[in-house]
Amino acid sequence: MDAKKRIEELKKAINHHDYQYHVLDKPTISDVEYDRLLRELVDLEKAHPELKTDDSPTQRVGGAVLEGFEKVEHTLPMLSLANAFNPEDLKDFDRRLKAVAPKATYIVERKLDGLAAALTYEQGKLVRAATRGNGVVGEDITHNVKTIRAVPMTLQKSVDIEVRGEIFMPKAAFLRLNEAREAAGEATFKNPRNAAAGSVRQLDSRIAADRTLDMVIYSLSEHDEDASMTHQETLSYLRELGFKTNDVIACDSIDAVIKACLDIESKRNDFDYDIDGAVVKVNERALYKTIGYTAKSPKWAIAYKFQAEEALTRIEDIRYQVGRTGQITPVAVLRPVDIQGSTVSRATLHNDGYIRDKDIRIGDDVLIRKAGDIIPEVVSVVLENRDAESDPFTMISQCPKCTTPLTRSESEADLYCENPACPARQAEALIHFVSRRAMDIEGMGNRVVEVFYNEGYLQSIPDIYRLKDHREVLIRRAGFGEKSIDKLLTNIEKTKSNSLEKLLFGLGIRYVGEKVAKVLAMHFGTLSDIIQSGVDDLVDIDEVGEKIAQSVVDYMQNDKNQAMLKELQEIGLNMTFTGKRPEAGAFSGLVFVLTGKLDTMTRDEAKAHIEAQGGKVTGSVSAKTNVLVAGEDAGSKLDKAKSLDIEIWDESTLKERLT
Ligand code: IVH
Repeated sequence: MDAKKRIEELKKAINHHDYQYHVLDKPTISDVEYDRLLRELVDLEKAHPELKTDDSPTQRVGGAVLEGFEKVEHTLPMLSLANAFNPEDLKDFDRRLKAVAPKATYIVERKLDGLAAALTYEQGKLVRAATRGNGVVGEDITHNVKTIRAVPMTLQKSVDIEVRGEIFMPKAAFLRLNEAREAAGEATFKNPRNAAAGSVRQLDSRIAADRTLDMVIYSLSEHDEDASMTHQETLSYLRELGFKTNDVIACDSIDAVIKACLDIESKRNDFDYDIDGAVVKVNERALYKTIGYTAKSPKWAIAYKFQAEEALTRIEDIRYQVGRTGQITPVAVLRPVDIQGSTVSRATLHNDGYIRDKDIRIGDDVLIRKAGDIIPEVVSVVLENRDAESDPFTMISQCPKCTTPLTRSESEADLYCENPACPARQAEALIHFVSRRAMDIEGMGNRVVEVFYNEGYLQSIPDIYRLKDHREVLIRRAGFGEKSIDKLLTNIEKTKSNSLEKLLFGLGIRYVGEKVAKVLAMHFGTLSDIIQSGVDDLVDIDEVGEKIAQSVVDYMQNDKNQAMLKELQEIGLNMTFTGKRPEAGAFSGLVFVLTGKLDTMTRDEAKAHIEAQGGKVTGSVSAKTNVLVAGEDAGSKLDKAKSLDIEIWDESTLKERLT
């Protein structure tokens, strides 16, 4: 088949599967199969660059890096919504509205807590995406929006339209992102909205591509005179074109609207993304012109804002966490209280500026809520309840663990303990080193590390591998039996052969998260090559920017770190990349099983072909099998594969895929 035709076919298939997965949430093929299609397209476009188009799904992986943001003037201003805070406000809205449009009915939908964006399509192709900006002029964010898979690159019809909607980050993606940033010693985002906004406001689209963003479309931009459909019909039309839209509730009275709003509010925690309210809109768009606008917002719609669920409790103490990087974080110890379905007993106080601004003191009664519905924070102090004797908060000036005088960060917001030998920092560093995503030493949880650390057995990373010298003492120590110590020591030994990226991540180099560690390990292959590399070598790598490069060089040039790495080498830790490299073949990463009699080749020949394309052939079907190739008279393996829902190919499918 000629390349052009195949590329078109692949683009269509991938767009279709993106739609099934990201819009309908109903994938019809496996992830592996999807990756295979995408890889085939990438390869074909590489071989025929002249056939690569801007609307290709391969553009979604990110790559475009801008110098700055272009301004985009909106064809119609992007307005905001007036707010209602209770049923009474909704009734007032209804009264005002019915005075001019007595026949209006309503649609109630979720108000997503993200950021608004406008998408322009010409002849069905996505040509531009812009932020709201000041409502009149926004910024061009097309390069980043292309990475959002719920946003179609090509519509089902070749139309010229502009649509608007909300870009957001699902809660699970937000928690994962923050976990990874914390592990890499980077600042975390306060809530999913900030994370989404921060991702969209990046010049380098690879960052957005890496962060799971999503988008729901809530309107079609048209002059009111041209609006021929109701809002509900518009949403169906948008769905037909391929957009993800909100579930909506149609209401023919304000009482029904109130019920719908309260209903959404009661379910607010059940969605996998944050919502901060409900939006009530008139369904009949033909009435919009009559109902009219204020300077800032339409009069035919209103946002019903949820009460942020707050709880009253008391600050029993303020403690300090010393992070791996030395950052000091004050934390409020709260009398435990239930809020939005979970018990909260700690709230971060961020830094001393935050505490002073809110005048938070130990013993205060405070209102607590979950920021972005996830992270507990102090909203305000109930001053009437304050004890007259209470003392204003004073921040510590010395490290709570090692008493080193604290220093201010560049931004002046945070305090740091700069003592690299600080026990709190070291214990945190050890906890990070042994953690699952780093060296993964089974049986060595936080408590074990802390006990061994406090008793002096563990002062540095190399000490972990010298614990075996203390076997007898450790066994005699109450709390650790012979069996568990031996098991732990065996587990520790095992990790000596870990591939380089695990060690590299475990070292806790600032900005080197799991992914960067892997990229570096794969690129250089050995630790000594990384040690010898300079900033210039490092920034040449795709995923590595200036900040990361400098941090790696600083770490590797440090005498103490070098001595420690040398010690680890002498102890016998593996310092080379021994992980799997993605292979180039069409079947790389796939596990095959062959069964039955093949027509035009022997099984051994089939095996050789599959392996030549990077696939692996095993003898029995298990959950790890990706594809069963079934010839004639296939027996129990076929039945097992079917029961495990494994993809099944006949011989002709195999041959097709091999070419
Ligand atoms: S309709 C005239 N529908 O809320 C503005 N907005 O305060 C029409 N939002 O900027 C907006 N979910 O970013 C609409 N289902 C929804 C929404 C929604 C979230 C945001 C939007 C807008 C803000 C208004």
